[in-house]
Order: sequence, then structure tokens, then C-alpha cells
Amino acid sequence: MNFQKLAEEKTLFLIVFILILISVGLLIEVVPLFGSKSVTQPVPNLKPYTALQVAGRDIYIREGCYVCHSQMIRPFRAETERYGHYSVGGESVYDHPFQWGSKRTGPDLARVGGRYSDTWHQMHMEDPRSVVPESVMPAFPWLSKNRVNVDTTVRHMHTLAVVGVPYTDADYAAAKEEMTGEDGKPKTELDAVIAYLQVLGTALDNTTQR
Ligand code: HEC
Repeated sequence: MNFQKLAEEKTLFLIVFILILISVGLLIEVVPLFGSKSVTQPVPNLKPYTALQVAGRDIYIREGCYVCHSQMIRPFRAETERYGHYSVGGESVYDHPFQWGSKRTGPDLARVGGRYSDTWHQMHMEDPRSVVPESVMPAFPWLSKNRVNVDTTVRHMHTLAVVGVPYTDADYAAAKEEMTGEDGKPKTELDAVIAYLQVLGTALDNTTQR
């Protein structure tokens, strides 16, 4: 019985052959990346998220923003002309879990940082149609009413440190001040989400990293 006959007539063998094939593919494509600096080392300007940004990122995940937004600019002209430099691995090393995604009901957000003012984001989150009339994005009006929680965020930063984000005691200590508003109360969830959005994609220096 030859190889081909075996695979075509015995489903179990077919499954095993397919698994072997996929494993070889994985070994060749994925495993070498584990040792590659371009994906394991942060790009030079990358800083761990500040406390407020960590809180914003948690809200981004809680609200399911990733269901409609990717954070992964692919190296194609149509993408780079619209969004900017394609995403590189070194930009995501402090992202646990990463938010690359593949579903784009809305635009990619990998480089949205600095593209709009904070006020634009406030209006857009309260009521997307007020700034983009044709928008199908849902409104998130509760974000401006809910307050962030300093303790939970600092605990999350400690957890992120366990998986390799280089936080220092100074970062934990700075959390309270950064997360407290001018009125002496914790900032809103909206402030946190905007702080997170405004830092996205800003670490990569477009002129030197091409
Ligand atoms: C149901 C799908 C959907 C969800 C969920 C969603 N968005 Fe959107 N988003 C869109 C669409 C569509 C657009 C494009 C129209 C617009 O600008 O409103 C958009 C646009 C945006 C933009 C402007 C991007 C640009 O480059 O112009 C930002 C920022 C944004 N969304 C952030 C968020 C955040 C933060 C969340 C979660 C709190 C979220 N979105 C959840 C669909 C969604």
C-alpha cells in the first residue's frame, strides 16, 4: 500500500499527515521568530502604558472595541497610505494580550494616536454621529460617567510586570496622581480610553524605522 493510497483511504492517516504538514509549517514560519530581535525587542521609543493608559486599555477590551477595530496595519500600499507605517512586532511587546485583530467594521486604530484632538474623541465616544454623520459606531455615553479605579489598575500593572513589562516602583507610585482629576476625584473612563487611544502607534519613528 503506497503513501497516497493510505492517505486517501484511511481518514486517520490523512489527519495525521495533515497534522505533520501543519507542524512543519509552524516550525519553519513561527519558531525562528522566538529568537528574532525584531519581534522580541521593543522599538526604541516604546514605553510601557502609564496607569491611565492601562485603565483605558482594559476598558477598550471590556467594551469590545476590538470586535470592530483591528490594531495591525499590514504592509500593503492601500493600508500604509491610509493609516501610516505598517505595524512592526517591536511595537507590541508590552501588549498583553495584543489587540491586533482582523475584523474591521471600523478603521484600524494602530496609529490613531495624535490623529484627533481629545475633544474630538470625547464627542465621538459620546455620540459618533455628532462628528462623523454616516458612522455606524455605537455610542459609549457611560464612559464619561464611570470613574477609573486606581487600586485595580495598579494591581494590573503588577501583573503585567510578571509577564515582562518593565514597570518600576515610580510607575506604581505615579498612578494615583495621573488618575486623579482636577476635581480631586478619579478621572473618568472616557479620560482613560482617550489616553490609551492617543498613545497608539506613536512609538515608531516613521522616518527611521522604514
Ligand atoms: C460596532 C462596531 C464598532 C464598535 C464596537 C466600536 N467602533 Fe469605533 N468605529 C466604528 C466605525 C464604523 C467607525 C468609522 C466611523 C466613525 O469614525 O465613527 C469607527 C471609528 C472609530 C474611531 C475613529 C478612527 C479613525 O481613524 O477615524 C475611533 C478612535 C474609534 N472608533 C474608537 C472606538 C473605541 C475606543 C471603541 C470601544 C469603546 C469602539 N470604537 C467601538 C465601529 C465600531
